[in-house]
Amino acid sequence: MSVLDLARPEIRAMQPYSSARMEASGGAILLNANESAWAPAGAAGQGCNRYPDPQPAALLQALAQLYGVREEQLLVGRGSDEAIDLLVRAFCRAGRDAIAIQPPTFGMYSVCARIQDAGIVEVPLAADFTVDADALLAAITPAVKLVFVCTPNNPTGQPVPRATIERLARELAGRALLVVDEAYVEFADGGSVAELIDTYDNLAVLRTLSKAWALAGARVGTLLANAEVIALLRRIIPPYPLPLPCVTAALDGLSVPGQAEAAGHIRIVREERSRMAAALAAVPGVREVLPSQANFLAVRFDDAGGAYQRLFAAGIVVRDVRRYPNLADALRITLGTPAENTRVLEVLNGGRV
Ligand SMILES: Cc1ncc(COP(=O)(O)O)c(C=O)c1O
Repeated sequence: MSVLDLARPEIRAMQPYSSARMEASGGAILLNANESAWAPAGAAGQGCNRYPDPQPAALLQALAQLYGVREEQLLVGRGSDEAIDLLVRAFCRAGRDAIAIQPPTFGMYSVCARIQDAGIVEVPLAADFTVDADALLAAITPAVKLVFVCTPNNPTGQPVPRATIERLARELAGRALLVVDEAYVEFADGGSVAELIDTYDNLAVLRTLSKAWALAGARVGTLLANAEVIALLRRIIPPYPLPLPCVTAALDGLSVPGQAEAAGHIRIVREERSRMAAALAAVPGVREVLPSQANFLAVRFDDAGGAYQRLFAAGIVVRDVRRYPNLADALRITLGTPAENTRVLEVLNGGRV
């Protein structure tokens, strides 16, 4: 059985759009895409009179090297959000198929499912926010085509052990695609599971340049998966997903100096995570700081609403996650610069650090 047997048959059968740039991109005189022959005004727009490469070769190469996969195992799009949407559209028939998620977790899995009219099977994380693999596997009905696992999880920060991911991939083979969202993995002790996509054709991994790579504004996210899955999604991704200035920004970020800078920032975030976890735990009114392997801390308060308002009044915006299950007393605080983090402590401590 091919992993593509899990995908929607009509998506497999459809004739994809063939863009001008896909059909021919060489040539000194380009008159095949109804573009303007003139460059736009302003330095920032240079090159933007032309449609960009649908999957820019230099970016694919840089990302394949970064993530340790082959280029045919990689789809680049507008953030990992776009990859989540494409997966749901390609694998879930409206009104019939479903995804499985483990709340509390990243909200876009269920939003994309709702847009597609796919069902949502919820298997809550255990009380300590670990994945209950037995419960998850027991909940997988034939309708479930995609199982999302977020590691480290947003908004709690806990990683999922590699052994659990391998077990899920093994036991879901032939039944569902396991989508492991590693948006925050650069901040974690354990590494990526990307190399396992050669072993499990039903394993897909989401990566992004939005977090550790400081490129949230460029919207560059990547899906790593079996080459057949990638080829299928390349058939349905909109023709030109990556704006040229964003590709340039991503390539700069992934350059040798860019990599050194990112590594330095990751080091600072990890140090700050330890410092802030200890300092926040000592703040009056803080009940608990959840252990985190990401670039944020989920913090339980006696009065989370009051803490939110005090921070807000001081110009500090954190994420109110009280609507999530088991987090009714929590705020999620992203780790900023050391000075920004110290300011959070000052405000929560009523003026003292
Ligand atoms: C777990 C997780 N996955 C994916 C995303 C989306 O990332 P991107 O900016 O690549 O679309 C986020 C953003 O916050 C996230 O927390």
